[in-house]
Amino acid sequence: MKILKYFILLLLTFTQCTKKIEKPFQPSIIPLPNFQNITEGVFLLSNNTHITGNQELSVVIDYFESYLKTNLRISPNSLQKKTQILFSIDEEINNDEEYHLSITKNEIRIQSKTAKGAFYAVQSLIQLLPTKNDTKEIAIQCLEIKDKPEFAYRGMHLDVARHMFSVSFIKKYIDVIASLKYNTFHWHLTEDQGWRIEIKKYPKLQEIAAFRDETLIGHYNDQPQQFDGKKYGGYYTQEEIKEIVQYASERFIEIIPEIEMPGHSQAAIAAYPELGCTGEKVEVATKWGVFDEVYCPSETTFKFLEDVIDEVVELFPGKYIHIGGDETPKTKWKNSAFCQELIKEKDLKDENGLQSYFISRMEKYINSKGKQIIGWDEILEGGLAPNATIMSWRGNEGAITGAKEHHNVILTPLSHCYFDYYQSENENEPLAIGGFLPLKKVYSFNPIPEELTKEESKYVLGAQGNVWTEYMKTPEKVEYMAFPRAIALAEVLWSKPEHKNFEDFKNRLLQFQDRLTSKKVNFANHLYEVSGNLGRNEDNKLMYSLSSATKDAQIRYTLNGNNPTENSNVYTKPIDINETTTIKAASFKGQNQISNIHQNRINLHKAVGKNITLSVDPNESYNAGGKQALINGISGSNKRYGDKEWLGFFGDDVTITIDLDSITTINSIRTRFYNGNGQWIYAPKKLSIKFDDTEKQTFNINNDGLLVDFQAKLKNAKAKTIKIEIPNFGVIPKGRQGGGYRAWTFIDEILIE
Ligand code: ACM
Repeated sequence: MKILKYFILLLLTFTQCTKKIEKPFQPSIIPLPNFQNITEGVFLLSNNTHITGNQELSVVIDYFESYLKTNLRISPNSLQKKTQILFSIDEEINNDEEYHLSITKNEIRIQSKTAKGAFYAVQSLIQLLPTKNDTKEIAIQCLEIKDKPEFAYRGMHLDVARHMFSVSFIKKYIDVIASLKYNTFHWHLTEDQGWRIEIKKYPKLQEIAAFRDETLIGHYNDQPQQFDGKKYGGYYTQEEIKEIVQYASERFIEIIPEIEMPGHSQAAIAAYPELGCTGEKVEVATKWGVFDEVYCPSETTFKFLEDVIDEVVELFPGKYIHIGGDETPKTKWKNSAFCQELIKEKDLKDENGLQSYFISRMEKYINSKGKQIIGWDEILEGGLAPNATIMSWRGNEGAITGAKEHHNVILTPLSHCYFDYYQSENENEPLAIGGFLPLKKVYSFNPIPEELTKEESKYVLGAQGNVWTEYMKTPEKVEYMAFPRAIALAEVLWSKPEHKNFEDFKNRLLQFQDRLTSKKVNFANHLYEVSGNLGRNEDNKLMYSLSSATKDAQIRYTLNGNNPTENSNVYTKPIDINETTTIKAASFKGQNQISNIHQNRINLHKAVGKNITLSVDPNESYNAGGKQALINGISGSNKRYGDKEWLGFFGDDVTITIDLDSITTINSIRTRFYNGNGQWIYAPKKLSIKFDDTEKQTFNINNDGLLVDFQAKLKNAKAKTIKIEIPNFGVIPKGRQGGGYRAWTFIDEILIE
């Protein structure tokens, strides 16, 4: 008997020793905690872990237990109490979102003031766990974290009007942003192309405004525009909205519904023509853009919008209603006798005053319901509604003006927060609206504009990433565009600016991506993308250098036009460029190509590397390559003007002077202009060329199509300096996108041959 006992004991010991426990995850939390100290040892999480805590925190405890069960097949119970996880309220903590997380060998202790703080502790804790589990015990690294956010408003937006997404997808989106400690979901529910929230008092919103007859295919700039001929639409029922609001609240996400007014309202006017200024019947819009059909500031409209707000406030318990306010053309108001009379009656200055009257009146109503309004920065025009929060999107200016007037502001500038822009220069990127916003630029964002004093910067609540879905038909595409840029923004908003470090962030992102994969999130991965740069070495020789954002891979390249393979040249140092060359390169791990192919043709024409001067600077948003980009031998993208090869000038006439060092024979001068009229970009109508002191010659430009080629064929011209005058297209005709404003000019490489 004794021997048997001994044998069993031995067996037990043996199985315990050989039992496989995965090594703990190296802490790689995103957003980076304020304070984190890794200590000795591991905590073992298993079915024998006892989870307990303050009753007020039970919603978070339930959430965590359910997470463990669903994702890791761990169901803690109180029978064994081998280890313990304790959630407690700490009255000494004074920020609702703050938490302390202490992990020692026998206990995980989570302290917070509120359930919200405890929820953020759990999100950090989850990031210390594996994404899947085949063992009975999970080792968690012992450590100490004290953490709270830098900004109180941490938002992600989603436009469900241009394209609509299922309830289950909205929940998935909320899950991911909650895991990044975002606290706000801005739900863009109404647009020209569709009304997506059920309003029971107005059934035609569901019957008519929720559906469009067809949808634009391809890019808005494609000529001719084409349509799919398929009816598209839908809306969220009030029951579905309640379900989503509840789901979000369990994840401490407040939903801000956006009901657009007075612009972007063509769908509602299609359902109820009396809301417009002419009463004419219009269609729900089938393509993108800004439309003249806007609400008329009539009593009929105010009654309608107040009724809508009555139903909206019942559905959304949060503090804010977003009333839009952006991109409201005033054409209809200018031509309306009623509007002109109203301007006089209310002693307003002009149509901007009328917009201000519109917004202030709706603000008063919404305030009377106990809610605050948020509006896009155009609500500053004509005078700001007294209690409004400004969402600054056209740049930082709206935020600066708002904060200086002591209004709360939220930053969401095009330059750093528009996740509908391209994120890679690769030609194979899926179609996007335009622009260029790579991950690194998002990460570099500072939501406090430099122009604000310390006192004024207190009005900056935070920032938000915007996901406009004109070019995102599917959930997979939304995920591709939103992530990882929303991950970078999460760290911008939560972590201390002095702790920000992009290299470190990328390493943590590699781990976070596994979490996204396990949740089947189709994130974009450009971490190994190769980029190239043409420069001169100290001997003034042209060299092309290659680099990738992440170091632990090999870059391989070819110079003969073939795609790189695992046998191609390994990049170790900048490549000599002595002749016109096509470079193709990609990142490899062993035999596996892990990036897209980077491709560049370097055309060694006569101006490459010479001196160039410009009469005006390009706009700072479209000046990535600097003036040298015009004569660096590399042409811009055929699809996009936001790369570092195109230069963009807003409204200016431009004179370019190229100095060729010595008298040179010139047979041809070529360049290209971008002509994306939907983005206010127009090729010039003509240009002039002047060689040294000779008379200038003027050439007409046929500005058809998206890319306009220009070539001046010359018969043995000789010159040292070439002066090219490019007059701006001028004012965009009324009725077009940007009508009334001067056009942009985008210029590509100037090839001197
Ligand atoms: C906006 O992007 N029109 C706010």
